[in-house]
Amino acid sequence: MKTQIDEIADGIYRLSTCVADAAPGGFTFNQFLVRAERPLLFHTGPRRMFPLVSEAIARVLPLASLRYIAFGHVEADECGAMNELLAVAPEAEVVHGGTGCMVSLNDLCDRPPRGLADGEVIDLGGKRVRHIDTPHVPHNWEARVLFEETTGTLFCGDLFTHTGDGPALTTSDLLEPALAAEAMFQATALSSVTAPTIRRLAALAPRTLAVMHGSSTATRCAESLNHLADAYEAKLAAR
Ligand SMILES: [Fe+2]
Ligand SMILES: [Fe+2]
Repeated sequence: MKTQIDEIADGIYRLSTCVADAAPGGFTFNQFLVRAERPLLFHTGPRRMFPLVSEAIARVLPLASLRYIAFGHVEADECGAMNELLAVAPEAEVVHGGTGCMVSLNDLCDRPPRGLADGEVIDLGGKRVRHIDTPHVPHNWEARVLFEETTGTLFCGDLFTHTGDGPALTTSDLLEPALAAEAMFQATALSSVTAPTIRRLAALAPRTLAVMHGSSTATRCAESLNHLADAYEAKLAAR
C-alpha cells in the first residue's frame, strides 16, 4: 500500500490510500490536509495506517506544525490515529462539535479536545474553516462537516462514499457510484433529517467536495448534493 498526495484545491491536499481487499475494486481512505499558518488535518486515518499517513503529511509539512485535528465522526477510519498525532504534534488539538466531545472525545483524547458551536469558524491563518453539526448524517450522533471558506471546499466525510481507486478529482457524476456503495454498505442512518441536512450543505454552494472514500469533485457540487438529498428522500418515502 502507498499513500498518494494530490492538491485538490489551493492549499488543500488529499492523502489517499487504497485498500485493495476492503471492497470490490478497492476502497480508498482519504485524509485532507489544509496548509495554513496553523495547519489542519481532516480525518486521521485508522491507527494501523498511521505510519503511511504520517509519512504522507510530512511530505507536505512538518508533522509537528499540525495545529488542528478534525474529523467527521468517531470511527476508526475518521479518528483512529488521533492520539498518535497528538503525540507527534505537541501544539495540536482535536476540534469537534460539543456532542462528540461530551459523548466520546473528552474521554478518548490524550489531550482535552476543543468543543465548537454549530457554525463556529476557526481562523487557520490564510484559511478559515466553519464547523457544521450534522447529527446522524450520514451516521453517528456527533456527525459534523467542515467548510473551508476561502476555497469553498466542503469536507463532507462519508457523504458520496464510493468504491474504486479513481482520480483525486473527477468530473464524473458521483451520485450513481455513491448510491451503489450505499446499496452495498447500508451505511447511512436514513431518517427524516437526512435530506434536509444535505440540502443545508448544498446551500453553502461549495466549489469542491472533499470525499473521504473515493474521488473528490469540483464539478456541480451543490447540484450533486441536492440530487443526493433527493435520492435519500425517495428512499425514505419508499419505506
Ligand atoms: Fe463513517
Ligand atoms: Fe469514513
